[in-house]
Amino acid sequence: MKHSSSRLVTTIVDTLATTGCYVGPSLLSDGLTLRLSERLQWLESEGALQAAKVGRSSGARMNSSIRGDTTLWLDDAPQDEAEAAAVRVIDELREAVNQTLFLGAFETELHYAHYPPGAGYAQHVDRFGDDDARVVSLVFYLNQHWAQDDGGQLAIYEPAGALLQRVAPHAGTMVAFLSERFPHEVLAASKPRLSLTGWMRRRSPPRTR
Ligand code: OGA
Ligand code: MN
Repeated sequence: MKHSSSRLVTTIVDTLATTGCYVGPSLLSDGLTLRLSERLQWLESEGALQAAKVGRSSGARMNSSIRGDTTLWLDDAPQDEAEAAAVRVIDELREAVNQTLFLGAFETELHYAHYPPGAGYAQHVDRFGDDDARVVSLVFYLNQHWAQDDGGQLAIYEPAGALLQRVAPHAGTMVAFLSERFPHEVLAASKPRLSLTGWMRRRSPPRTR
């Protein structure tokens, strides 16, 4: 377990170093992915998620025509064992990224995201005008049964604008890319679309929730 996961860490870091964008098997085990999926569904049913904002700090605002998801930030002290386990695994990746890529990513912020049917996130880059702290974007998909025609793909574009890849949001798939480089968009799905999404960050300005 420890061994195969550290091999995957190496693969992800090497891919980030060469192409800047990894799409492939998740660093989170199937069991952990399932627990996170169940926890997110429970949190969602309890009404714990809130409409996501576009932009940060004072300029942050809700705009459901740009993004239609609801989110819940994981705190620095996770409430749940599965979340704590995920944070540990992701931190291992962050340390490997720093050792190889010298990105100075000293912390990770993570949120659950839930897109209701029909919701998406228009094309964007994961750095807002007032925030250049995000260096690596991460998405761990938490959808146990996802069919091709359920939609909800992540479309990733080359910096110059050509389509690079469409990723179906299956549980067991993860995406990691250099935040400043790749525009991307979330296409609408026909059923709820779940993920754990996060960013490795350079420093820690106050976050607007
Ligand atoms: C985001 C985002 C991608 C996805 O939250 O900024 O682009 O596939 N998410 O959920
Ligand atoms: Mn994004």
